[in-house]
Amino acid sequence: MSRYSKVAIILHWLMAVMIIGNLAGGFLHDFVPREGGQRAFVMGLHASFGLTLIALTLVRLGWRLANPPPPLPAYFTPGERLLAKAAHWAFYAAMLALPLSGWLMAERNDRPLQYFFAMDVPKAGIGKPLAETFNEVHELLGWAMLALLVLHIIGIIKHKLMDRDNLLPRMGIGRA
Ligand code: HEM
Ligand code: HEM
Repeated sequence: MSRYSKVAIILHWLMAVMIIGNLAGGFLHDFVPREGGQRAFVMGLHASFGLTLIALTLVRLGWRLANPPPPLPAYFTPGERLLAKAAHWAFYAAMLALPLSGWLMAERNDRPLQYFFAMDVPKAGIGKPLAETFNEVHELLGWAMLALLVLHIIGIIKHKLMDRDNLLPRMGIGRA
């Protein structure tokens, strides 16, 4: 059975949990009360997981380039192959650009940027106006990541219902 490597599977699910958590924290942060530093706490975690994701994405990209994925099932049409590949590479681009834009926007405020409330992280030194622009970029990329995730899940459901093919075992979930 064709399956991604163990390292690819662990990175996929670890990062999926962190990214989905960060999408939730990012889009919902307005609903977290400011009182008692609750919002600062949530966004401190958001930034720390985001910074961790930059490093994990670099490791994952390196692993991916050195370890080709299992071939797609033979019945995939050329159009499906192209769409799957394009979506996967767009995911990699977003996994890098989204947290980087988050780091670049950190200068909007004068609070220190901290890694899990323990260590100061340097900011980019690009000035407030540019940091404001990256805030817009960060939001747009957040929507792009969410759109890719929806497409990703629709793809898996499509193959299950229309092609009677379960792709989840390729990513380590269950047996083929
Ligand atoms: C893959 C990692 C990340 C994801 C998925 C993500 C996602 C998001 C999303 C969806 C928003 C809401 C945007 C809006 O509606 O305005 C947001 C806001 C925010 N993000 Fe991230 N982010 C990530 C990484 C980071 C990093 C690394 C930092 C900082 C070092 C950061 C700092 C922030 C801040 C401060 C906000 C609040 C913006 C505001 O006040 O409007 N994010 N993030
Ligand atoms: C934001 C969260 C997620 C991201 C960023 C993500 C990203 C990716 C990427 C980049 C690949 C291609 C791996 C490669 O070729 O290197 C992939 C494959 C896969 N993902 Fe996700 N994923 C996420 C969430 C999910 C979820 C929630 C599911 C399950 C419902 C899922 C199921 C799969 C499966 C089954 C594959 C293998 C596809 C194949 O057969 O080639 N992913 N994912």
